[in-house]
Amino acid sequence: MSVPSGPDGKNRHRIGPANDGRPSSRAGFRGRTLSLRARLLTGLIALTAMFLVVMGVVTTVVLGTLERNQLNGEVRLASRQSVNGIAAGTEGFAAAYLSLDSGTTGMLTPDSPTGETLLAEVRSLSGLPRQEVFDKLGRLAEFERPFNLTIGGAPTVRAAWRSVSTQATQSAKHIMPSGTAIIIVGRPASDATSNMGGIVLTELITGGALIALLTVCGNWLIGRGLAPLRRMASTANLITRSGDLAARMPEAGGQHETGRLAAAINTMLDRIQHSFSARLRSEEKVRQFAADASHELRTPLTTIRGYAELYRANALGPDELPSAMRRIEQEAERMSMLVAELLELARLDRSTSLDLSETDLTVLARDAVADARAVEPGREVLTSVPDSLVVTADEPRIRQVLANLLGNVRAHTPPGTPATVRLYAKGSGAVIEVSDQGPGMSEHDAVMAFDRFHRGDGALAAAVTGRATPGSHDGTEAASSGLGLSIVQAIAAAHGGYADLSSGPGTGTTVRLWIPRRDQTSDSEREHASRPQEPPHAEMAKNP
Ligand SMILES: Nc1ncnc2c1ncn2[C@@H]1O[C@H](COP(=O)(O)OP(=O)(O)O)[C@@H](O)[C@H]1O
Ligand SMILES: [Mg+2]
Repeated sequence: MSVPSGPDGKNRHRIGPANDGRPSSRAGFRGRTLSLRARLLTGLIALTAMFLVVMGVVTTVVLGTLERNQLNGEVRLASRQSVNGIAAGTEGFAAAYLSLDSGTTGMLTPDSPTGETLLAEVRSLSGLPRQEVFDKLGRLAEFERPFNLTIGGAPTVRAAWRSVSTQATQSAKHIMPSGTAIIIVGRPASDATSNMGGIVLTELITGGALIALLTVCGNWLIGRGLAPLRRMASTANLITRSGDLAARMPEAGGQHETGRLAAAINTMLDRIQHSFSARLRSEEKVRQFAADASHELRTPLTTIRGYAELYRANALGPDELPSAMRRIEQEAERMSMLVAELLELARLDRSTSLDLSETDLTVLARDAVADARAVEPGREVLTSVPDSLVVTADEPRIRQVLANLLGNVRAHTPPGTPATVRLYAKGSGAVIEVSDQGPGMSEHDAVMAFDRFHRGDGALAAAVTGRATPGSHDGTEAASSGLGLSIVQAIAAAHGGYADLSSGPGTGTTVRLWIPRRDQTSDSEREHASRPQEPPHAEMAKNP
């Protein structure tokens, strides 16, 4: 459907093409902000990278500690071996001795940079008194405890010292002089960190590969996840650009968030579409009503002006003057009636116009029947009413309903046709029913009877010619306006009830009005009740 755009451009502003789908200049200015997809991906990668870095640092620290502990253990173990065992050598270890008796120093293992460092250390102790040697070594580390030894620019050595007894050197006479001695065992401290470089490199490569994989897979997954949103955005764009309110979001109703969002937007679109068409309908109705009202008022005005012009042109003979005056009076009366009825309808459209009080419908029905009998003694009007039926209602308006319905019987059925007024409780409300055994209405008239200004064929002819309606045998009945049943329906709606009608050719006509007994109608119910009412009477009219 196309969307109306009011002269004030209000509608267009709301749903019309605000732009051609391109981002506005402001949005363009902010276009540099990342898309949701890019932000999600960046966030994912940043988080994963952070996680990997933390994991890497923790692993490196833990592994480093483990390796250092292992090196210390190995150094300690090596220092505890027998002199021969030390000399036989353990992979990567070097050892040097200081004979405390002779002050001789030497290496127990083959030459190596580590051995040089150890040898330099023992040499620095050579010649010192025994106690001072122990003091110096004790300051470096406890007996058999690993310590770092750095001499000159040589690489640091992880070493441990121990003293050996004369007996212990006895068995190693071929490699060192016998007697009390100090032995220092060590291996390069860098051995502990030699694997770390490899581990860090492996971590970096694995992390990089993971991030690359994550970028590719994450981009694809996020793209897939956001695809419904993209499609929804283009549908929304379509609605904005073309004003096509019938368009709906695809993939609505799934269990996913996007499905639920699409369903919610569709419900909203349904509502918007519904209220737009309701507004269109009601605007159309108002226009039609205004056109009908002016048309109705024009007929009597034309007649009155016609007679006035005839009189001014002296075209009326003295014997024609009374008749002309009578016609002018009749038309003026008809106009007053029309204006009064229009005013009444306008008032009823405002739901606050009711003056509610406890009203006994039985009393009103009996009064109305008595009035009808007085106006038309020849017509049999039966009543079927309970002793009392009290409702909260606007009394004068209920009287008007009864007067309109009995007036219709008088106006649209032949004189003498019996009519019945019934009152009974139904559900939480009360029903006022007026039926007759007159000629009834055609199916078309029955469907349209409640429409404003709708008149049946006979009534229309009477209105056009300005004479009394066919049934009104006394000739005093005002001409038909087609507003009587509309007023009945508007009164029912204002009370929070409804009116319906069943009629068919030859079967008579029954009009029912249901109103709630108590005025518990909330504003919303009233609004609902005052909506254009088609179904009840239309359906009943089809099945008389
Ligand atoms: N009791 C009835 N019997 C037959 N036709 C009726 C009856 N009541 C109403 N109608 C038809 O319904 C039309 C609308 O009624 P109403 O709204 O009261 O307008 P009006 O009475 O001014 O014509 C009437 O013109 C008439 O054709
Ligand atoms: Mg009427």
